[in-house]
Order: sequence, then C-alpha cells, then structure tokens
Amino acid sequence: MQVRSRVSRRKFVGGLAAALGYAGFAPGVDAWAQGRAAGQGGPRPMGGRGRTSLEEYDAFAKLASNENPYGPPDSVMKAMTQAFKYANRYGYPDGGIVEEIAAHHGVETDNIMLGAGSGEILSVVGTTFLKGGKKVVGVEPSYGSVYAHASGIEADSIRLPLGKDYRQEIQTIIETTNQHKAEVGLVYLCNPNNPTGLIVTKQEVRQLLDGIPKDMPVLIDEAYHHFVEDPNYATSVPYVLQGRPVIIARTFSKIAALAGMRLGYAVAPASLIRKMRPWGTGSVNALVKWGGVAALKDTASQERVKRITVELRKKTTGELQTLGYSVIPSETNFFMVHIRREVRPVIEEFRKKGVLVGRPFPPMTEHLRVSVGTADEMGRFMTAFKEIFPAVKTTTASVG
Ligand SMILES: Cc1ncc(COP(=O)(O)O)c(C=O)c1O
Repeated sequence: MQVRSRVSRRKFVGGLAAALGYAGFAPGVDAWAQGRAAGQGGPRPMGGRGRTSLEEYDAFAKLASNENPYGPPDSVMKAMTQAFKYANRYGYPDGGIVEEIAAHHGVETDNIMLGAGSGEILSVVGTTFLKGGKKVVGVEPSYGSVYAHASGIEADSIRLPLGKDYRQEIQTIIETTNQHKAEVGLVYLCNPNNPTGLIVTKQEVRQLLDGIPKDMPVLIDEAYHHFVEDPNYATSVPYVLQGRPVIIARTFSKIAALAGMRLGYAVAPASLIRKMRPWGTGSVNALVKWGGVAALKDTASQERVKRITVELRKKTTGELQTLGYSVIPSETNFFMVHIRREVRPVIEEFRKKGVLVGRPFPPMTEHLRVSVGTADEMGRFMTAFKEIFPAVKTTTASVG
C-alpha cells in the first residue's frame, strides 16, 4: 500500500464523524489524521529511526503510542487558547486545576499532585519510595518507566512474568512482596496493563492490598481507566479515601488527547503526597492547566472518544480473528495480536506500508501491539496486515 500524504486538517468533529463512518454511522466522511512533529530524539514514534519530515510523519497511520487520534475537542482548544494571555506568569492563574481534579474524585486538594504527564508522577513516586536502593515489585511486560527509573537511581526491580492468559498474578505479587518486604519500597500495578490491555479486577486489587504489609506503598497506574467497560474493574481512588498507602496515577494524554501538552496527576493520602512533592519539577505549563479543567468538564467528548475507540477496537480485532489470529481481550485503546512470528521485522514491514505499530514487548515478542486510531487508520492497518500475513486457521482465537 502507498504511503499517502495527508496534510490538511479538519475539525475534531470531522475525525469523530469519520470514525463513526467506519463503524457504520456516517459513511463517506473522510478521516482527519492529526500531525505531530516527530523524530526529535527518542525512539517514538519512528521506531528508533532518524528525523522524519513533518509531511512523512503526517502520512503515517500512527498506531504505535496509544495516542488519541482525534485531538482535543473545541472546548479544550478554546480554554487553552484563552489561557495564552497567562503565558508570561509562573504558577497562577491556573484555572483552578487542582481544585477541579480534587472535586472530580471527591478528595481534598492536598490529596493531589500535578505532573508534566503521569510519566512525571511515576518518576516522582519511584524516587520517593525507591531511593536508597529499594526494589519495586511488578510484572513484565508492563509500562516499563518505573523499572527504568529504578535502575536510573540505582534502585532495583523484581519483575514477575505474566500468568495464565497474560494476566497479572496477584497471588505471586503478594508472595514476592512479602518474601522481600525489607527491600521492597513499592509495588507497581498498571491497571489496565500496557501492553496487554487486560484489567486487574477490583476483587484482585483488594486481595493485593489486604495481602501485603499495611504500610507498603502501591502505585496503581490508571492511564487507560477511561476506556474500560468490564464491570469487574473499578478505580482504586476509594482506597485513598480510606487512608491506604495507595498512589493513583492518571493522565490527560489518552482520553483527553493532551499527550503533547503534558498533564497528569497523582491521587494519594496527603502524607504520601507530602513526601513526593520535593521531587516534582513544577513544570506543568499554563495552557494545559486550563485545558485540563475544560477536559474534565467535557464529559460528552470523552464519552464519544471512548465509544468510537471501543467500536473500532472490536471491529478490527473481530476481523483479525476471522483471519485466524488470536487477540488478547483488551479493555483499552490498544490491543495485542498474536502474529506467530517475531514482531521486530514485522514492525518494519508495516512501516514500509505507511503504518506505525508498537515496539516489541519482551518476552511477548510474537505479539504485536496496535493502538486504535481513526477509522481510516484502522482500515489502512487491516489492508497492510492482509498483505503481510496469509490467512491462518486456529481454534484458539479469543474475543477482543
Ligand atoms: C500505562 C502508562 N502509564 C503512563 C504513561 C505516561 O503517559 P503520560 O506521561 O503522557 O501521562 C503511559 C504512556 O503511554 C502509559 O501507557
């Protein structure tokens, strides 16, 4: 398939309508692929390659970084645009972002800490609870930033393999934490997990918290919370209200489409937030604070993004299963398909066809992680997939 150049930009509504078209609601409306500058340091999203022109970047179907392809809705754009007049001020006016987040969760403002993305929160939590060479316990593969941060500060990690059906084995996490409790500074639970998209149920979260030492900090990363449909999942914020040593990390990068603007936060007992604050950079920009407030209020836009994303995920994973490929049943805006070959060369094959897909996640090196993009992007992914893979027969396909 040809790499198509697409530099025109349409409104958020256009992107949503296109997605609905793919899902069968508004046929004939074209997709808006949002352009972002790429290639300036770091492996994402160009798979470790050098600089890429903006035109080349815009032409890719960007299914590598679990981004929201629709961009911020008008309500958020308007709030950020109006906030430009405060660009010359340091911390204030801030739109009341901390108060709004606290009210959103029914907690106090001293239960909230802002970060420049939840990535900053993960680092702050890592430094706070692992300094002095402590260990973080968690599974692999998962979102690896806490483990990388641990090695960066000469702390360590105990990474447990995933269990049956790629699930996080809570009993093993409990046993490992208890066995090494003198050295363990933190337990990390990504819920739902990246890259599998699988949840830890609310019963399992309780089992974990009840099974480890009462004062053991647990970092629960809820970056993909807003996409979950499974009623067995619940946010762990209520544990903060109970005073348990739980830190919830949330982000505006996914459902709210503000990845490039950098806003995330922690919800935790005030005593833990006080320990974390000295490690924060205070580097959240003025615009995104106002954008974040508007995003919290624009629940209709978030609902639309969720609905379209889930529909497109189900449609695409259904097509893959029809072709004979098993898919891990995701609750997020990405999924993993078992391609029965090493993913590394396949990622390059997709790239040549104008589709960026996720990096390898060892030890699951035969599973390809695919973010859910627009209807047009998912169509292009399926076209490329059929060109790269022959149809196979299987009896083990799971429901996506
Ligand atoms: C599970 C998880 N946590 C945290 C992050 C960091 O996101 P951000 O720093 O943009 O909030 C990501 C990003 O992909 C993620 O997948």
